[in-house]
Amino acid sequence: MMKDVSLHAPEIKVGVVGLGLMGCSITTCLLMAGHPVVAVAPVSSDLTFALKRIKKHLQRSRREGLIKNAPDSYLQHLSITEDYQQLKGCALVIECTIENIDIKKSVYGKIESVIDQNALLASNTSAIPISILQKQTSYPARFFGLHWAEPSHTTRFLEVICGNESDITRGEYLYELSHLWGKEPTLVRKDIRGFITNRIMYAMYREAIWLVEQGFATVEDVDRACRNNAGYWMTLVGVFRWMDLTGVPAYHTVMKDLFPTLNNGTTVPKLIDDIVKSGGKGVANAHGFHAYTPEEAKLWEETFTEFSYDIRKLALKYPEDVVKKKLQALQKKKSKAD
Ligand SMILES: NC(=O)c1ccc[n+]([C@@H]2O[C@H](COP(=O)([O-])OP(=O)(O)OC[C@H]3O[C@@H](n4cnc5c(N)ncnc54)[C@H](O)[C@@H]3O)[C@@H](O)[C@H]2O)c1
Repeated sequence: MMKDVSLHAPEIKVGVVGLGLMGCSITTCLLMAGHPVVAVAPVSSDLTFALKRIKKHLQRSRREGLIKNAPDSYLQHLSITEDYQQLKGCALVIECTIENIDIKKSVYGKIESVIDQNALLASNTSAIPISILQKQTSYPARFFGLHWAEPSHTTRFLEVICGNESDITRGEYLYELSHLWGKEPTLVRKDIRGFITNRIMYAMYREAIWLVEQGFATVEDVDRACRNNAGYWMTLVGVFRWMDLTGVPAYHTVMKDLFPTLNNGTTVPKLIDDIVKSGGKGVANAHGFHAYTPEEAKLWEETFTEFSYDIRKLALKYPEDVVKKKLQALQKKKSKAD
């Protein structure tokens, strides 16, 4: 797909509704890309943290060299408000509220009563099918999934998802636009529950939990294996290039014998059920699959942030077209020598 060079962020006003964890990092990403942003707090408590969080992201991004200018020069293009009317004039509004259809539906009603008929509306839902969400709107053709990965202002990941009634050409526009946000996006042309990465990741979560529940390995051992296997190569290549790199026939042979033994359970496993039912959230409250002291949990959060900036640097060194660029350089060298 060709990049549309005419896209100019400062002329494209974007709205974000819901200023929790992701709403704040998405807002940061859009500001860093040069968009004017209207950030709407659907619940007043968002106002307590939103500006602080966004400022913190921008300050860290400046220290890490992601942006050149001082945070204030980005913040002057941000308006944080509880007033949906301020979304007037937005070409795109991204809904980022909790994973609840009724709440999202009521938010869509408020957004659509203000925005233009031509404006696009998107949801950052993790798992609600876009075809179901778009039925909650007045103009389903302009509705898409925009699935980000936290922290949105440092990650390259973005899925642009079409529902059954979405206008694919406008999906292609969002795909192009997201290049301005520093993304290497994936366009999901047909709706499917869990989209692409969550389908793959949840197959992995299910198998990992099953291995622990059945006593084959501990949580620590499974985590160590994943970090040092997939964690080692996945920033460079995806699963298909990995099989190409390491020899396709071996995978063919293993699949025949291994697939029948993989877990294909359809209920939520006891291991995670017990954690959630006893109030466990993970590092957020120092109660998850691993044991944490509160201090340790906080340090994991900080370490994850630190790692996000480091891995970003490595990822930028190896973009999707890294080999294509090397080939072009080689050809240039060759034609000079001829
Ligand atoms: N956290 C992640 O890593 C992640 C990744 C991808 C997608 N998502 C999706 O992004 C969305 C937001 O997730 P988050 O992690 O930012 O959650 P969060 O809990 O940090 O924020 C949720 C926001 O929902 C809004 N909200 C809460 N109650 C509401 C109500 N009654 N009416 C209207 N708005 C209300 C608030 O603005 C709140 O800040 C969800 O759909 C989630 O599935 C999250």
